[in-house]
Parts: sequence; structure tokens; C-alpha cells
Amino acid sequence: TAFPQDLFAAIQALKQELNAIILAHYYQDPDIQDVADYLGDSLGLSQQAAQTDADVIVFAGVHFMAETAKILNPNKLVLLPDLDAGCSLADSCPPQAFAEFKAAHPNHLVVSYINCTAEIKAMSDIICTSSNAVKIVRQIPEDQPIIFAPDRNLGRYVMEQTGRDLVLWQGSCMVHETFSEKKIVQLQMAHPDAEVIAHPECEPAVLRRAQYIGSTTALLKYAEQSDRQAFIVATEPGIIHQMEKQAPHKRFIPAPPMNNCACNECPHMRLNTLEKLYLAMKQRSPEITLPEDVRVRALRPIQRMLEMS
Ligand code: 13P
Ligand code: SF4
Repeated sequence: TAFPQDLFAAIQALKQELNAIILAHYYQDPDIQDVADYLGDSLGLSQQAAQTDADVIVFAGVHFMAETAKILNPNKLVLLPDLDAGCSLADSCPPQAFAEFKAAHPNHLVVSYINCTAEIKAMSDIICTSSNAVKIVRQIPEDQPIIFAPDRNLGRYVMEQTGRDLVLWQGSCMVHETFSEKKIVQLQMAHPDAEVIAHPECEPAVLRRAQYIGSTTALLKYAEQSDRQAFIVATEPGIIHQMEKQAPHKRFIPAPPMNNCACNECPHMRLNTLEKLYLAMKQRSPEITLPEDVRVRALRPIQRMLEMS
């Protein structure tokens, strides 16, 4: 395929032509972040998707995020630059096994992290993201037993913060589980001025080392507002592009993975490229579709989240 010389300009032109909005997550390649109309964490992206009046949503993120945008906008065209951009956390919770887990815990309210498939959302009572999970669980009556799925690390963090006992689905994110506590401690010794900031999808050993824990948007805001001049960042390093833009005089050090060969970029998020984004807009494909019955059932818990946020 021949690409135009100025991809940025070509994407802007297609945006006008399609009346499209480009929504991007912080874990996307910096080039994609720079063409986005809105850049945010999972909650911000769902809020934008819920209120946009564009005809086309180009979702630069992973499948469950674009799917959430489609659930909220059945009549809009929702494009994902690479349909294979999945999520190990969403994959760790297959619908059949989750239906059995639910059946084994009757009378439990199901709170699911947005990082799950539409089928799991359809089996849930309330959706949450990393930025509102604690707030949402706090609004549920004390005597109501709760299943929290699919991320066990976020679930454990919410248990600590709320003092509630949650029944956890044992899923996890392959990216946030690669960070090594030992290497973080070594980095802290080498950079005693740096503060460790971490996403709650990290394992407890890493979270214990963190001076601040939050969603990507919360980490960004914290890094910008804190008096500290250096940070060890325990989340996908795509966010560092925005941190450096918002606080150019500060230093951001990506937390190292356990295995030297491993990289801490999310292989799913990084399947999207600027070229694929351009092609998706030009070809109006690949688009997100889903069965209407699943969409309708998945919509309710998302709306409850938006109301409770
Ligand atoms: P947030 O967008 O809520 O910070 O979550 C990060 C993430 O892992 C998205 O896949
Ligand atoms: Fe999924 Fe983890 Fe990648 Fe987020 S960073 S999309 S949770 S695999």
C-alpha cells in the first residue's frame, strides 16, 4: 500500500470527511497520541464515547475499549486500527467459566473491571475502571457480597482500600505482572530522589514499593503536580510520552521488567500503528460489531458505572 507522505495531514483530512473523532489510550504509540482528539484513561475514554456527536469513532486502544464505545453507540461506525489488539486480562476471563463461577456464588453482585469482553459485561451488574473502582465499591451496601472480576491485583487493592471482602476472579495483566520488585528497589537506590508511582494492576509486592497508586490519568496528574523531580513509573511506558510533555523538566524512568529480554510495552496496544489508523479511516474498516442482545445487556452495567463515577 502506498501511504501519503504526510500521514498526519491525511488523517486530519479523513477526519473531516468522515466527521470522525479519534480517541486514544495513553498506552498507544506517541504518534497516535499526537493525532488523537481525546487522549485518556479507560474511564475518560468511555465518557467521551458516551457524549460524542461524531458519526465515526476511531478507537486507538484495544478491543474491549472499542467494544465499549460500540455498546454506547450502536448506530455509529466504530473503527479499531487492528482487530487483533486484544488484552491478556480480558482473555483471562472466558464467558463459560465465568458463568460457572457466578453460579457458584449466588446472591453476589458482580462488579467487573472494564478490561473484559462484552459477554462478561453482559453478565455483570456494574462496570468499573481503575480510576473509580474504589469509589464504586464504597457505594455498594456493606452487607452485599460482591464478585470482583477479572483482575485480581486491582481487586486486592480495592479490598485494602475499602476494607471489603471481595470474591476475586484470578485474572491478571501480562504487562503489569512483568515488573520486578527487586529491580525497582535497585533503581530506587540508584535514584534516591525518585518516587515510585504504580498502576493498581501491578502485583502487591510492587504496589508496596509505590508512594502513589492510581489509574493512568491519576499517575499523569500526580507526576505533573508533585514537587518531586524524578519518578519510577510502574505501568506501560506509553504514558511517559504525556508525562514528558506535561512536565518536560522532570525525569521519568520506566520500571524494569523481571526478565531482561522482556519489554514492558503492551503487545496488544502496540499492534495499532499510525499507518493502520490511516488505513482504517480510509477503508472504513475494520469495524467493531456485536450481537444486539449482548450489547443491550452489556450497556446497563456501563451506564451504572457512568452514573456512579
Ligand atoms: P486505565 O486506563 O484505567 O488507567 O487502565 C490501564 C489499562 O491497563 C488499560 O488497558
Ligand atoms: Fe490489557 Fe494489560 Fe495491555 Fe491493558 S496493558 S490492554 S490490561 S494486556
